[in-house]
Amino acid sequence: MAKIIVVTSGKGGVGKTTTSASFGAGLAERGYKTVIIDFDVGLRNLDLIMGCENRIVYDFVDVISGNAKLSQALVKDKQQENLYILPASQTRDKDALTDEGVAAVMKELSDELGFDYIICDSPAGIERGAQLAMYHADEALIVTNPEVSSVRDSDRIIGILQSRTKRVEEGGSVKEHLIITRYNPERAAHGEMMGIDDIANDILKVPLIGVIPESNAVLEASNHGQPVIYFKDSAAGQCYDDIVARFLGENRPLRHIDVKKKGFFAKLFGG
Ligand SMILES: Nc1ncnc2c1ncn2[C@@H]1O[C@H](COP(=O)(O)OP(=O)(O)O)[C@@H](O)[C@H]1O
Ligand SMILES: [Mg+2]
Repeated sequence: MAKIIVVTSGKGGVGKTTTSASFGAGLAERGYKTVIIDFDVGLRNLDLIMGCENRIVYDFVDVISGNAKLSQALVKDKQQENLYILPASQTRDKDALTDEGVAAVMKELSDELGFDYIICDSPAGIERGAQLAMYHADEALIVTNPEVSSVRDSDRIIGILQSRTKRVEEGGSVKEHLIITRYNPERAAHGEMMGIDDIANDILKVPLIGVIPESNAVLEASNHGQPVIYFKDSAAGQCYDDIVARFLGENRPLRHIDVKKKGFFAKLFGG
């Protein structure tokens, strides 16, 4: 049986798709058969980040509306044998995703196609699209930026995770993990951003699985159509790798969260 993981946040533009791509790629790198589903009907940017936009023929909505078989719509990753994308449709309306259709796709991915992990990249908001993306989840990666509006929206999404999911309906719970992204240690030190402890322990009270620094490598990677986790020299790539390792049970300390000490030359030139 596949494990289903939703990547969710409430607010848009916080790093869900970036996280879905790297998390999925990291699991596949470790040998797990993984599929990333783009639930963001109308926006469709997971395929751009994964660099497979030109290979899309059919999409998630085609499968649900019976225009294509699931196996026809799955796009195989260019680099990894066991990584697939189920792309969103760019044009069709959001109501094309039905409860039964999504349930059938989850079942087929898990039972017939033998996936180990199904990653659901959620759209922004707390409405239907986001709820469909989380409904089947066993676990959730809650992506938050260190700012008040993002933390507040994550708090809302946690409320929905704890009430409107299949697991909760059946008397269980969805296991929650917090990811703080676009973290800037300098700005946090100056009080311009919220601190890690404030967000994780004081407000959301969700176990922290990782912190991703604000990093140019993220944009660079997406311009290359590659998840940043493949950029092994970048801080963001390393922190995503840590998240995958921790998810799989490894104990790794947080890194890249302290203010960098300026070197002699940087001090001299004010860099
Ligand atoms: N750690 C990061 N550092 C810098 N930019 C980032 C980081 N994470 C995401 N971004 C940028 O933020 C924007 C939104 O990211 P995205 O993953 O599409 O968010 P969402 O899916 O939540 O809307 C993108 O332009 C992306 O390149
Ligand atoms: Mg997105």
